[in-house]
Amino acid sequence: MTNYLSTFKTALLSILVLSLLNASAQTKNDDAKMNAFVTNLMSKMTLDEKIGQLNLVTMGRPITGSVVNNGVEERIKKGEIGGVFGVYGTEYVSKIQDLAVKESRLHIPLIFGLDVIHGHRTIFPIPLGISATWDMALIQESAHIAAKEATAEGLNWVFSPMVDIARDPRWGRISEGSGEDPWYGSQVAKAMVKGYQGNNMKDGDAVMACVKHFALYGGAEAGREYNTVDMSLNKMYQDYLPPYKAALDAGAGSFMSSFNTINGMPATVNKWLLTDLLRKQWGFKGFVVSDYTAVNEVTNHGLGDLQTVSALALKAGLDMDMVGEGFLTTLKKSLKEGKVTQQEIDIACRRVLEAKYKLGLFDNANKSINADREKQDVLTDENRQFARKIAEHSFVLLKNKAQTLPLKKSGTIALIGPLANNHSEMLGTWVIAGDPEKSVSVMEGVKNVVGSSVNILYAKGSNITDDSLLGARAFPFGLNQMKDKRSPQELIDEAVETAKKADVVVAVVGESANMSGESSSRSDITIPENQRDLLKALAKTGKPLVIVLFNGRPLALPWENEHADAILDAWAPGTEAGNAIADVLFGNYNPAGKITATFPLSVGQIPIYYNHKNTGRPFSGKGPAKFKSDYLDISNNPLYPFGYGLSYTTFNYSDVKLSKTDLKGNETLKATVTITNTGKFAGEEVVQLYISDPVASVSRAVKELKNYQKINLQPGESKEVSFNVTTNDLKFYNNDLVYDWEPGQFIVQIGTNSNETHSASVQWSK
Ligand code: BGC
Repeated sequence: MTNYLSTFKTALLSILVLSLLNASAQTKNDDAKMNAFVTNLMSKMTLDEKIGQLNLVTMGRPITGSVVNNGVEERIKKGEIGGVFGVYGTEYVSKIQDLAVKESRLHIPLIFGLDVIHGHRTIFPIPLGISATWDMALIQESAHIAAKEATAEGLNWVFSPMVDIARDPRWGRISEGSGEDPWYGSQVAKAMVKGYQGNNMKDGDAVMACVKHFALYGGAEAGREYNTVDMSLNKMYQDYLPPYKAALDAGAGSFMSSFNTINGMPATVNKWLLTDLLRKQWGFKGFVVSDYTAVNEVTNHGLGDLQTVSALALKAGLDMDMVGEGFLTTLKKSLKEGKVTQQEIDIACRRVLEAKYKLGLFDNANKSINADREKQDVLTDENRQFARKIAEHSFVLLKNKAQTLPLKKSGTIALIGPLANNHSEMLGTWVIAGDPEKSVSVMEGVKNVVGSSVNILYAKGSNITDDSLLGARAFPFGLNQMKDKRSPQELIDEAVETAKKADVVVAVVGESANMSGESSSRSDITIPENQRDLLKALAKTGKPLVIVLFNGRPLALPWENEHADAILDAWAPGTEAGNAIADVLFGNYNPAGKITATFPLSVGQIPIYYNHKNTGRPFSGKGPAKFKSDYLDISNNPLYPFGYGLSYTTFNYSDVKLSKTDLKGNETLKATVTITNTGKFAGEEVVQLYISDPVASVSRAVKELKNYQKINLQPGESKEVSFNVTTNDLKFYNNDLVYDWEPGQFIVQIGTNSNETHSASVQWSK
């Protein structure tokens, strides 16, 4: 029997090895074919045509700077343009593609990009919301559906995922990423890339991902947009770089350089970043595009005129120039003057052509242009149902005093607030092709879900903001914020009268879509003051007060946490916003989302994140104390820690059981807890594993997330959840940037969030 088993194992192993060898031979073969094709094509190209391939222009929205491109159609025919973004729709895209394929000398197809960030036509929650699902299958599927819709409209390249670690909620773009944790951010990065690119980028429903913003954009000083990043190498490698690397390992075809400087050198011209790290250390084989006019902006960073900075960018390893046309207008001159080499231009051109090859555009430039698919695959009922599901899974229950939620499907509710009866703000930031008319407001959702059994009253209660500066910035594209003609007090009075007639008040408040996202940093991260005045007046009525919160960032909510009975964080939920919110409010779905970025008590605690290092005088967690690392006027503890989120039910965690407490070398540790649903509802729980390394050769984070499992439990049901821990989970970068583990004590912690864990200690020797 033993013999038989070992023969069987050997046979299986041989099959595995053979298929791996086959796959690698296949890849080599494909690469050789691609090389031969591109070499042949490039042998026919003029210098101008090669430089043309490095030029990416925009023809529509988005315009995220002061520069736009003109005369694009004529210039495509001349071979001056390699890619276009901002257009979609098969008719338009095929018209533009025809200019390149039929009317340019070498018929080289264009690559068509767009900021498809959280869905294309069917809009899903903003990425920070999506990350709160802790469900990689859902996340991958959201990217797959986005790719399917985008390709149905002629696109083949998306400027996503944004994997920048962000620990500063003042930064508006925290909404576009997966929060503060490098390990968790890496899981999301992989899932997104796989969802977009599928098994083969040549497939009609796959797009090429563009990982952004490389790198460290989320480390912007003071949370101010486009600002400087200055960071130790250790912090970069340990905390900020892993998600980019994970996206690369998942096969991402392209990267976008970031706007910021890194330790004095702008990312877009940073040779260490774009060549030494990305290509030499990590082995990236795709192409790198700049961010919007980021090459030109290097002039403002103080590195020289457009010709100088364009040459620097090319030499650093940047392949494509977005919008600014510095490459197009200066590289030829730089070549003549010996400031760049022919080989540098060739390499960049080759990488762009290879991307087009990998996408199958040379076989069929119009591969996804199909008017039927545009009708059949976009904003389908199925996609909308998925949007509803992922939105429900993204919501985080921040407070639920005395089981205020779920609401009864009877009686009278007062729906109050500037976001209660609104379509546009549901979609969040970065919605190029999403149609607000197609989104479901909270009011509509509540009617859809409980329409005939519940008496629904409504009052607007306030404008989104009465602050003229914030108002102008929060509606930058001239959308009016439906400013009510009535005075703030009249709005509040009406809301209070409405609340008095109801059994429960649901206040739908928070940020508008453009209060987060690009160029939307805030120095005050509370709910706008006039909305807070409304909440105060509603709280005084004594009616149970439920807050449904819209937000693109962690907000500082100490007042709301103290005075509201329940708070449901809905982020910006997307097309199916209202239906998803109503499902959760009325208990059709029990919320299970967990926050992936810490919610501070106030802006003064920022930056605040769970995986910080200890100080020599650590804060005890209780009360202020002299000569400890704390504040005079506020606790160090956040309002809600990383990984936090409640459920309509409750879960009990047992102590952690370890398979061993003394381990050696490559042994595996099994850590187990038993979790019991002690409440009345079936529910999901995200069980989180953290590890601390209390003694090492460098100061380590107090704890780090290493794994999680999402489980489902019926009332009264218990489940054992086990994690296998290996020495891979113990590795870290030391100050020489060596990634390894060091023997000693480790504390394994399992819990419901980063702050509430059960722990057990092990010794692990080499
Ligand atoms: C943003 C990128 C975006 C690009 C193109 C820039 O301003 O930083 O994230 O992909 O514009 O729209």
